[in-house]
Formats: sequence, structure tokens, C-alpha cells
Amino acid sequence: MRQLGVNIDHVATLRQARRTYEPDPVWAAAEAQLGGADCITVHLREDRRHIVDRDVELLRQTVSVKLNLEMAATDEMVAIACRLKPEMATLVPEGRHEITTEGGLDVAGQEARLKEVVARLKEAGVYVSLFIDAEPQQIEAAARVGAQACEIHTGPYANAFYAHGRDVEHPLVAAELAKVGAGGTAIRQLGMRFNAGHALTYANVQPIAALPGLCELHIGHSIVSRAVFAGLRQAVAEMKALIRSA
Ligand code: PXP
Repeated sequence: MRQLGVNIDHVATLRQARRTYEPDPVWAAAEAQLGGADCITVHLREDRRHIVDRDVELLRQTVSVKLNLEMAATDEMVAIACRLKPEMATLVPEGRHEITTEGGLDVAGQEARLKEVVARLKEAGVYVSLFIDAEPQQIEAAARVGAQACEIHTGPYANAFYAHGRDVEHPLVAAELAKVGAGGTAIRQLGMRFNAGHALTYANVQPIAALPGLCELHIGHSIVSRAVFAGLRQAVAEMKALIRSA
């Protein structure tokens, strides 16, 4: 069954807007789990703009499903991951000026460094996923550096969906969907797990969730946005139901 990883960074973003103690992402993780989340994802950024070290420490102690730490491939983050040992680490590119993660990791352009980082994480018992664009050269490089999973960046599909009338059958939307699907096939053929995420919403998740061999979806903004009105437990349960029925 497809699994849902819920990214709770936005809860921390709201807290940091006031530099206060609420809303607490640790509470958010508990609510998300009660709604059926299979995995809790947080991105500890170099600038600590939303999730801070205290959050990751407490989540490590309290999350009872899988904890996925999104991180840049820096020595500081590798040391934190090796110490805290989340079940999974997802390596992402990180830019100080981006609003959110903007593109996939350029694995092909930094193979030697990523090989070393992936090896250090795996040695610590952390399962390693790479967030990449659905490009054959990135997928092949991911296999060469020893990644166990690839998360395909679904942003281009989501952008096309909203740019073309929210119509999955529009040729440009269908083309982006097919790219994600072809990426998934290549990932699985190379013996890695196929995950996907970024910019998925209640409106556009189902075609992605229906792709053959997909293991996990990682979704944040849309779920937390719905949670403002419906509550996080309910928002997660609704997303899970959509994924299940896709
Ligand atoms: N996957 C990765 C690797 C991400 O960086 C993010 C955003 O932090 C997500 C998934 C979730 O994206 P969104 O918030 O658009 O659902």
C-alpha cells in the first residue's frame, strides 16, 4: 500500500513567525500520526528558518512511525543524522533564498561527494533517499552513489496541472505525469524504491498515487493548509483516503 509522509515544516514556520513556542511541530507530528501518517518528515535547514534542532531531537524520541529527515549533504547535517538516526534521510539541494526546495538534487554533478555522504549515512543505519528530477542521468547517478530510494520531484507535474485547467488529460500535464512514471520505472529497474513528492494537493495527487510501483508520497503544504480549517488529523485522513482510492 502507498505510504504517506507528512511534512510538518509549515507548522514550525508559523511558530518562527513569532519566535514563540506554538504551534509545536511535535504536537503536529502526534496529530498527523493519529490521522494515519506513515511517516513524519522535517527539513532541518542550515539557517534553521523553521524546524530547529530541538524539534528533531524531540521528534526522534516521540514519533512512532518512520521519521524522515530532509537535509543538505553538508558535514553538519550528516553528523546530526548519524547521531539521531532517523529511519530515513532525504538529501535535497538547499538554497538560502529559496522559499521552498526548488529543484532536484544534481546527483550527476557531485557523485564523489554524494557517494561519501550516502555511505556515511548507511553505515549509521539510516536509509537514504535522494530528491531528484525525473531525468535518466540523475536516476542512474543516484544508483551509482548507492541511494536506496529516489523521490521524484513532482513540482513540474503540479505546475502543469494548475497552468492547464487542472486537467490531467491536457497533453502537457499528461506529459509531465508520464515523465514521473518513466522515472519511477527506471528507479525500480535499478533496484531502488520509488517515492514522489512536492506541490501535491488534494486536487492533483491521485494520478501520481496511481503510478505503478510507487511506495511513498511526501506532502506538506497542502495538508497543513487544509489543517488550518479542518484540523491536522482530519486533513491527513482525507489525503490518505485519496491516496488509497487512487
Ligand atoms: N519532498 C521534498 C523533498 C521537499 O523538500 C518538500 C518540501 O519541503 C516536499 C516533499 C513537500 O512539498 P510540499 O510542501 O509542496 O507538499
